[in-house]
Amino acid sequence: MEKNIAVIWGDCSSPEIVKQTLRVLDKVAEKYGHTFHYTDAAMGGEAIDKYGDPLPQHELDKCLAADSVLLGAVGGPKWEGLPGEQRPEKGLLRLRAGMGLYSNNRPARIWPQLAPASPLKPEIVAKGIDFIIVRELIGGVYFGKHETYTLENGEKQAVDSMPYSEHEIERIGRIGFETAMKRRRKLCCVDKANVLDTSRLWRAVMHRLQAEYPEVEYSEMFVDNCAMQVVKDPSQFDVIVTENMFGDIISDEASMITGSIGMIPSSSLGDGTRGLYEPIHGSAPDIAGKDIVNPTACILSAAMMLRYSFGMTEEADAVENAVNKVLDKGLRTADNMSEGCTCLGCTAMGDAILAEI
Ligand code: IPM
Ligand code: MG
Repeated sequence: MEKNIAVIWGDCSSPEIVKQTLRVLDKVAEKYGHTFHYTDAAMGGEAIDKYGDPLPQHELDKCLAADSVLLGAVGGPKWEGLPGEQRPEKGLLRLRAGMGLYSNNRPARIWPQLAPASPLKPEIVAKGIDFIIVRELIGGVYFGKHETYTLENGEKQAVDSMPYSEHEIERIGRIGFETAMKRRRKLCCVDKANVLDTSRLWRAVMHRLQAEYPEVEYSEMFVDNCAMQVVKDPSQFDVIVTENMFGDIISDEASMITGSIGMIPSSSLGDGTRGLYEPIHGSAPDIAGKDIVNPTACILSAAMMLRYSFGMTEEADAVENAVNKVLDKGLRTADNMSEGCTCLGCTAMGDAILAEI
């Protein structure tokens, strides 16, 4: 197969992980007889420096013209003082919206080899951690009205609104049920229905969908309780479906309990097969240029791209198995290092994974 991949190299330590990921994709192409064409697209800090805009239309167009998009991570201290509209994060939000990517899939699965790196007690980890957060990605408070204005008394007031319409809830709710059907058939809708109207509307729409999926064991949980349950007994979850900001928060928490945020990939999809694949971690400015950042989450994101956008199941398995073998050998990076293991840098970890494909 021949595929066009738009590559957003990202900021700070991100180009280091993207570099290793492209080596892995090239190895897959060589081994399985595919051709991958890469087109660089700028978004985030790099785009601000080059064009004064975190995502100019011509760069978004490159992503829309590709079969899929690979992204490292954007942002860093250099751009932190900029006003909201010009920040690197705004580029990311505009990319997600511009590509229509309403469904963000964030797996929280512990690699057994990394169990000692989890901050949870061994008896909790032993029960298993393997769930997916299906996060709504282009609605809610992220895309509502943001306003700061001055009241008559001279005091400033700010407001961020959180709109959700039924069709937005229904399409992500359906992804939640469909994802559960492919797994252990348990779906938990996480919300704040004791306080928010949007959450009550979510529940009403979810109840309608529930009738279409009688095989799925459906439950509901308030987000504050969910934050607690994720550390108390993560084995209870199979699929969580939730709105944009709750998903942002719970997915960071979920990644931490698996031992390292440096291991967690993600996919964002809309109605077609073109997706955006990125690690869930940030651009790690503090370790940029030192060749010590963990490239695994980005490499696993590329594996997700092979699986979900290109239908290359065997190829995706090969990449994931390679990571598994590397962990079996006791090879680690600084972020998930434990006693008795060997600590590799970014390039050396790329070499190690390549050698197993
Ligand atoms: C994430 C990030 C982004 C988000 C930021 C960088 C805007 O935290 O992908 O989880 O909040 O969605
Ligand atoms: Mg986040």
